[in-house]
Amino acid sequence: MTITASPAWAALDAHRQACADTHLRDLFGRDPQRAESLSLSFDGIFYDFSKQRLTAETLGLLLELARQAKVAEQTERMFAGERINSSEDRSVLHVALRRSAGPFPSSSFDVMPEVAATRQKMTDFATRLRDGKCTGHQGMPIRDVVNIGIGGSDLGPKMMGQALRAISHPTLGVHYVSNLDGAQLAPLLQTLDPRTTLFIVVSKTFTTQETMFNAKTARDWLRANLGDDLVSENHFAAVSSKPERAVDFGVASDRVFPIWDWVGGRYSLWSAVGLALMIAIGPHAFNEMLRGAERMDEHFRTTPLERNLPVIMALVGIWNTNFLGAQTNAVLPYNESLKYLPSFLQQLEMESNGKSVSFGGQALDYATAPIVWGELGNNGQHAFFQLLHQGGRLVHCDFLAAVRSDYPLPAHQEALLANCFAQSAALAFGRNEGEVRAGMAQEGVAPQAIAELLPHRVFAGNQPSSTLLLTSLDPATLGSLIALYEHKVFVQGIIWGINSFDQWGVELGKAMASRVLPALYDQKLASSLDASTQRLLSFSRKHLK
Ligand code: F6P
Repeated sequence: MTITASPAWAALDAHRQACADTHLRDLFGRDPQRAESLSLSFDGIFYDFSKQRLTAETLGLLLELARQAKVAEQTERMFAGERINSSEDRSVLHVALRRSAGPFPSSSFDVMPEVAATRQKMTDFATRLRDGKCTGHQGMPIRDVVNIGIGGSDLGPKMMGQALRAISHPTLGVHYVSNLDGAQLAPLLQTLDPRTTLFIVVSKTFTTQETMFNAKTARDWLRANLGDDLVSENHFAAVSSKPERAVDFGVASDRVFPIWDWVGGRYSLWSAVGLALMIAIGPHAFNEMLRGAERMDEHFRTTPLERNLPVIMALVGIWNTNFLGAQTNAVLPYNESLKYLPSFLQQLEMESNGKSVSFGGQALDYATAPIVWGELGNNGQHAFFQLLHQGGRLVHCDFLAAVRSDYPLPAHQEALLANCFAQSAALAFGRNEGEVRAGMAQEGVAPQAIAELLPHRVFAGNQPSSTLLLTSLDPATLGSLIALYEHKVFVQGIIWGINSFDQWGVELGKAMASRVLPALYDQKLASSLDASTQRLLSFSRKHLK
């Protein structure tokens, strides 16, 4: 039975028809306790979902949906190490990566010894490098670290590195290269000294085209500049679940850090994939981040559904996507340090839950992951917020901010927070005709002009949003925040009845790229491709130097 056939789904559907158009103004007017009852906090995170178009009754029905989908039971299966990634026949154990004490998930299948050994190896390496004891060519200390990886082997550490740049090592440069476009790597290489640069090639498979291209170019650059076939030994490290491939590439075997098939790429920030991040922020801060995530894991696993932060966030998303019909979810951080969070969440949510068949392979007749998009909120206000306010589309918005700033410009911080709170209020409550008229009359605008301008100046409001407020962007709170999103995605996947941990949808494009590349200079090969691709190739052939 699919979830849409459950009594809870039917009850929610009926409830939506009865109340979904109620304006947030009315909901707040009717219930003075609303802001209090529709908010939750855990550690340094405060989640306000009172500006969502729902009531306590909606929440009760959504919780019943979670019960009927067996969210608690499925959560236990994940924590027990069952092979819940069924299409790849794997356990899903990223939570093990932030455990402080083992064994886990069980004494008969204990992954903790290898997790702990890898964490120690990372700590030793990062400490030596941060202390200037990791040397490159002619014994010069490494000064720049370049993480070469893409997707989950890039976005997590890059996002977290940006979020924690206030506590980053003061002199070490840590850079991220993901794009196949040489326009990312080439200018970076111009700024680097090959004698003092270390490349960390991060790839679970060690076959990803983009990463291999960039890694080979880096190796060529080192050889061209240092003229030594052994350069790789001192200037490379690698993270992979296929260590033999990294060694074949030329990485010294003691510099290959393992990951395991039970960690999905987009859930791997906590593993050796986070090595560049650990180098930037130091092992202590990295550990704090793990502790924050572990606390969220415990909260998720042990807290009743109605006070469980990831569960409530997931249900709010389900309500918007499946019942109100919102197709997109905007992530709007009011903090420069969170600028890569929207991209990170795009992969986490859309690669995990952008599916249209169930666990058992049946086609689904309901929406799954929304389109996640976003941008720094304050910049967005002067770009796309117009559509959010008056474009007439329903967009589920997530505002994020940190109360304390890492930078000594308090007036900026206060104004930033004021903007964040003002925008969600404006989206929720809007400005009606009466208010527009009164305001313009007070400004002395002539009645005729008021009549003409009225439709342009009315804001319908009722745009649903949540606000996640963090006390500060410290490692523990950020670790907790990312674990919160991971578990939210997991709960939604359970309710939608899909496997959140595979990603078959990325295969086809990769396979086709390997057919198209040789056809660029081979007419015969090109003729086996579709007509549009042939034309694109022929135009490119003409203009490629
Ligand atoms: O193509 C998608 C993907 O497989 C992601 O799931 C993954 O995070 C990324 O590519 C990188 O993969 P790898 O770590 O194997 O290079």
